[in-house]
Amino acid sequence: MSITLDQVALVGRTYNEYKRMFDVTKESLEGKKVLDVAAGVSSFCAIGNAVGLNITAIDPAYYFMADEIETKAEEDLDTVLAKLAFNKSHYNWDFYHDIEGVRISRFKAYQTFLKDYQSNPSNYIPGEVSKLPFEDKEFDTTLVSHLMFLYDHLFTEEEQIATFRELIRVTRNEIIIFPTKNLSGQNSKWVDLIIKNTEFLEHTFRLEKAQFEFQKGNSLRLRVTV
Ligand SMILES: C[S@@+](CC[C@H](N)C(=O)[O-])C[C@H]1O[C@@H](n2cnc3c(N)ncnc32)[C@H](O)[C@@H]1O
Repeated sequence: MSITLDQVALVGRTYNEYKRMFDVTKESLEGKKVLDVAAGVSSFCAIGNAVGLNITAIDPAYYFMADEIETKAEEDLDTVLAKLAFNKSHYNWDFYHDIEGVRISRFKAYQTFLKDYQSNPSNYIPGEVSKLPFEDKEFDTTLVSHLMFLYDHLFTEEEQIATFRELIRVTRNEIIIFPTKNLSGQNSKWVDLIIKNTEFLEHTFRLEKAQFEFQKGNSLRLRVTV
């Protein structure tokens, strides 16, 4: 797959935001092996492992050193916040209240990530979603936040299918992908492509409303029982 780091913002969400997006809790993930795909500078892996969960994060950003990641995360956060300020009315402010609230949350996420990235490097695997360096059925639950459907214009049909096939290969029970709309706020065409693909007929798909809606109307997650 040909996505480069320049095409996708290196911003990360917090453990708390992940809980809302995916409807997971410490209790629901306890005893499970969890994979966070395109984890970037999110603090989900750091906090989750700190509270006793078993989470592995994978992202192409992990080919880089902590200071390089920090520089890009800082720059990308500024870019994202500037865009948000122009498009404020497209967003729902219940959770963050204002732009400063987003900055604080994203800053906390990447600072927490950076500490853990340096102290527990074995939890952070460099790699990309279309070629996961894991054994078949290695994970009970796989989460994908803010990549596959959000940046749908960066994937070809073949890449989306190959990527989904790869997620199924490494997952034993459940894959959850959030959100299902793209950056323009339209339903990603790849959701139907996957759900209706005869190759994936034996899997069960459910679209669920998450307790998290920042981009207005973009609050559905796709839950797949493998
Ligand atoms: C918008 S961030 C989302 C980060 C995190 N999942 C979250 O929701 O906070 C998108 C992430 O996708 C990663 N990414 C870009 N191309 C990728 C690929 N081919 N495979 C896996 N991750 C990729 C980027 O490095 C970035 O960290």
